[in-house]
Amino acid sequence: MSELRFDNQTVVVTGAGGGLGREYALFFGSRGANVVVNDLGGSHKGEGHSSKAADVVVDEIRKAGGKAVANYDSVENGEAIIDTAIKNFGRIDVLINNAGILRDISFKNMKDQDWDLINRVHIYGAYKCARAAWPHFRKQKYGRVINTASAAGLFGSFGQTNYSAAKLSQVGFTETLAKEGAKYNIIANVIAPIAASRMTATVMPPEVLEQLKPEWVVPLVAVLVHSSNTSESGGIFEVGGGHVAKLRWERAKGALLKTDSSLTPQSILAKWDDVNDFSKPSYPSGPADFMSLLEEAQGLSANPSAPDLDFKGRVALV
Ligand code: NAI
Repeated sequence: MSELRFDNQTVVVTGAGGGLGREYALFFGSRGANVVVNDLGGSHKGEGHSSKAADVVVDEIRKAGGKAVANYDSVENGEAIIDTAIKNFGRIDVLINNAGILRDISFKNMKDQDWDLINRVHIYGAYKCARAAWPHFRKQKYGRVINTASAAGLFGSFGQTNYSAAKLSQVGFTETLAKEGAKYNIIANVIAPIAASRMTATVMPPEVLEQLKPEWVVPLVAVLVHSSNTSESGGIFEVGGGHVAKLRWERAKGALLKTDSSLTPQSILAKWDDVNDFSKPSYPSGPADFMSLLEEAQGLSANPSAPDLDFKGRVALV
């Protein structure tokens, strides 16, 4: 099997001055891509800034014979990052929204600043970069996006309400990008990685981190953003330590209750076993699934054949 190459493509990696981002950038640089190495160069808590982190990685890529330029903007300024790609290389093909910070603190002690900073970097930052890349992707009918979630977002994690909320948002964001992008050959997927980095160094012992090299996350990302991937979009992937698995939503059997005055708290409690019955699960992938389920159950006039609702269809469901 020949290796996956990215010649003549431009890949933007945010937060590429260290950790996972650095590994992505080095990889794409070694596989023929023009790489924009973005990094604000601050602390893991989002304080300060420096051009050094991005410069070091650009140097590494160039010394190895690759093509790369640095960008030092915060992801909150996504236009400037995508502009760096357009000005230097004339195009953008792949966006890896990877930049991130932590402001871990128990919910009891959470301050607005901890909440807001996490949201600005993870949610607003990912939005701004994707929003700036989007017109280019649509125009050229080609684009690949990776957003970065976390097990903390999918499952919750003590002391990380801010980070968990921001990270699960990447799932909804990605799934809608995948739906809106499909017509334009824009593919978007979300990963929940686990890897040794300065972020995890504070919470995991060295012997565990040894099993979680960040370079082991890179091959999955390469597969998902390569031009040969024309169908895997809107996926959620758990990846780290050599393990790669897709995750999805699972719906229990559920209770079907009459929609009349008999629908009371007691009637739900009486069916609690059905609400929790995962013995024959279904795997919903869009709002249309829910409407068809209701139609089946209650004879509503939804259109169950509509796989992805367009904007007008969506309004009816809000
Ligand atoms: P890291 O701290 O080593 O790297 C993050 C990079 O993002 C840093 O170089 C930092 O300077 C940069 N950055 C931070 N704020 C920025 C901003 N506003 N604009 C531009 N750059 C900024 O962390 P790591 O572990 O490599 O994390 C990468 C991504 O993976 C993050 O989104 C993180 O939340 C996510 N993640 C990592 C996990 C892990 O096990 N390492 C687990 C789950 C998610």
